[in-house]
Order: sequence, then C-alpha cells, then structure tokens
Amino acid sequence: MNLIAAVDKNWAIGLNGKLLVKIPEDMKFFQKVTTGKVVVVGRKTLESFPGGQPLKNRTNIVLTTNRNFQVKGALTIHSIEKLFEELKQYRSEDIYIIGGESIYRQMVDLCDVAYITKIDYEYLADAWFPRLDEKEDWEQTGDSEEQTYFDLEYYFLRYERKKKASSQ
Ligand SMILES: NC(=O)c1ccc[n+]([C@@H]2O[C@H](COP(=O)([O-])OP(=O)(O)OC[C@H]3O[C@@H](n4cnc5c(N)ncnc54)[C@H](OP(=O)(O)O)[C@@H]3O)[C@@H](O)[C@H]2O)c1
Repeated sequence: MNLIAAVDKNWAIGLNGKLLVKIPEDMKFFQKVTTGKVVVVGRKTLESFPGGQPLKNRTNIVLTTNRNFQVKGALTIHSIEKLFEELKQYRSEDIYIIGGESIYRQMVDLCDVAYITKIDYEYLADAWFPRLDEKEDWEQTGDSEEQTYFDLEYYFLRYERKKKASSQ
C-alpha cells in the first residue's frame, strides 16, 4: 500500500480543514499517480474536495463513523477492520492512502511506499503527516531535482519501508 502527501519542513499537511498550499505541478503529480487506482480518504478531507465530491477516475473509499453519510461515487466504510476487508480484493500496490492526518496515522505502519512532496517552508498548521525521517523502519529512496513555484522550493521524495533482513 502507498501513502501520498504534500508536507512542509515540519511535516505539516493542513490548516482549518484545507491544504497549506496548492502547487499546480504537485496536483498534476497526485492526479497522475492516483488515476485508475484505489484512494482511501477520511471524511474531513473528502469534504474539502471541490463540492465535497469524490475524485474522478479512481475508486474512492471514504472512512466515517457516521452511518448516514453517503456520497455518490464513493464507498463509505465505518471502521479500519471493514476497510481491510474491503481492500483485500485489490492489489496492495494499487491502493493509495490520501489523508488526512487521522487516516495517515492509522495506516502508515501498514504501507510500503510513500510519495512525499516536501515543501521547503514552515506553515502555520493544525494537521501533520507522521515524520518518516524519524521512523526507523522507513528510509528515503528517491528524490527529484529542486522544483519551484513562485518563491517556493519543493522536492518529490520517495520513502520506502525497509525490507526485513532475511533470517537465513
Ligand atoms: N497535504 C496533504 O497532502 C493532505 C492530504 C490530505 C488531507 N490533508 C489535510 O489534512 C487535514 C484533515 O485531516 P484530519 O485528520 O483532520 O481529517 P481526515 O483524516 O481527513 O478525516 C477524519 C475523519 O475520518 C473519519 N475516520 C477516521 N478514522 C476512522 C475510522 N477508523 N473509522 C471510521 N471513520 C474514521 C472520521 O469521520 P467522522 O467524523 O465522519 O466519523 C474522522 O472525523 C485537512 O487540513 C486536509 O486539507 C492534507
């Protein structure tokens, strides 16, 4: 399973239910990576999308405890256990955890790859991604050239869970 997020210098991801910044090239990257795949999203993040609508051309799975919550074009799931049951039918590499904070935190230890857009700036924030650089079982395995958007600098990074050493 994969995670995908845009984080700032402090691994911040949001403020007041919104993204910290919208970088068009990052949005395109997100679209390219997740199109045709399964995306798992928290109810609050789903509601932050334009019109509160699911993402097009993807299988949207939304987590909420609200049994009355329904949105056309998304499958609603009410617990992590039910989520795992549902996800069994998909290939792990086709599943993307797209946030927000609560979903990243519950899923990070079950994922293998993280696509992190690292923005070289410190924003005021109230939501964060788990700090992969402080997790012993994760390592950075890829980075891009420096990217710019007006005066912002950012990088497309790849993190992977370290493979367990064989016991042989
Ligand atoms: N920078 C990025 O890449 C990025 C990506 C995504 C989101 N974000 C930001 O992250 C922030 C939102 O994060 P958040 O943590 O506040 O909200 P969230 O994770 O998007 O949604 C939280 C909601 O998900 C539901 N939920 C979570 N765990 C559940 C479980 N185990 N079972 C059933 N339902 C569950 C609950 O919905 P109910 O309350 O309906 O029960 C909960 O209130 C926003 O600022 C958003 O813009 C940033």
